[in-house]
Amino acid sequence: MKKKITILPGDGIGPEVVNQGLKVIEAINDLYDHHFELIQADFGAVSIDKHGSPFTDEALSECLSSDAIFLGAIGDPKYDNDPNLPVRPEQGLLKLRKSLELFSNIRPISTYDLLTDVSPLKNSLLKDVDFVIYRELTGGIYFGEKHISTDRTYASDLCEYTDKEISRITYQAFEAAMSRRKKLTLVDKANVLETSRLWRRVVQDISVEYPEVVVDYLFVDNAAMQVVLNPGQFDVILTENMFGDIISDLASVITGSLGMLPSASIGKKTALFEPIHGSYPQAQGLDIANPMAAILSVAMMYEHFGLLQEAEMIKEGIKWALDNQIVTQDLSITKEASSCSKVGDVIAWFIEEEGELKIKNDSTKISLNCII
Ligand code: IPM
Ligand code: MN
Repeated sequence: MKKKITILPGDGIGPEVVNQGLKVIEAINDLYDHHFELIQADFGAVSIDKHGSPFTDEALSECLSSDAIFLGAIGDPKYDNDPNLPVRPEQGLLKLRKSLELFSNIRPISTYDLLTDVSPLKNSLLKDVDFVIYRELTGGIYFGEKHISTDRTYASDLCEYTDKEISRITYQAFEAAMSRRKKLTLVDKANVLETSRLWRRVVQDISVEYPEVVVDYLFVDNAAMQVVLNPGQFDVILTENMFGDIISDLASVITGSLGMLPSASIGKKTALFEPIHGSYPQAQGLDIANPMAAILSVAMMYEHFGLLQEAEMIKEGIKWALDNQIVTQDLSITKEASSCSKVGDVIAWFIEEEGELKIKNDSTKISLNCII
């Protein structure tokens, strides 16, 4: 398969974890004979430093002409605490999401047996945790009209949704539920917000087309509690932009490390794949960041292209590294921690070795079948 991918390493540990993802892409493409043209562009604080903008029009046009984007992380502490700065790295991310109409942000949450001791939750709560959050990504309070009075004593952010914006992601979430355990939970604040009541009406209307899916509704404050008290109850969570931002960070700690969680943002054409974690500036250049979320984001990219075997092979590589305790410091309890680049190396190595074996075995099976 031929694809064009734009790589946006970004800030902090972004380039380090992206490099590990690239090793995996190379190993998989060698094995399965895919050809990806990889184009790199500046994004985030590095782009502000170089070009005065977090996401230039040149970078945008590379993205628009790509099949997918692989992003590391953005953010720099020098922008975090000064509300008066006119240009911020996050503006780049919002521009990217809006320009590519990446309306559906998919964040899977699952646990790994080996990591139950690093999770802040009790082991008994971690059994059967396997859910996915569908977060609307191009509407709501993030993109509604913003206002600040000239004397800077009054500010407002408008939360807006149209039924069309809600229904396009709702269909995706129902389709996901159909291929999973057929349960969908809408998280909203319909006891207070008009936009939430619109979400409920649209979801109720669409639910008629999916009679097999059990739908329930949770107010976001209760949902926050439930994600911690009983995370095993969820299958697909569907929610609007801001609630999804908060609930997904909350849910991400269940696994034990933010460094394990990938995400995909799907829109009309080009899709974006990125780890959930931020730029972790304290770790920049130390080669200690966990690259597994970035590598799992690469697996989601192959899944998106319909290359399921390739995605499975990457996930096996992750499991193998976990089983053999080749993990970064956030996950290492017993043995000495491995570096970010070592984890990337061994997963790429596993794919090369194991993949060769698999392909050989499969072809023996095929030839045996032919003989029989
Ligand atoms: C995320 C991030 C972004 C968001 C920030 C960096 C703008 O927190 O992807 O969840 O709020 O959407
Ligand atoms: Mn967030």
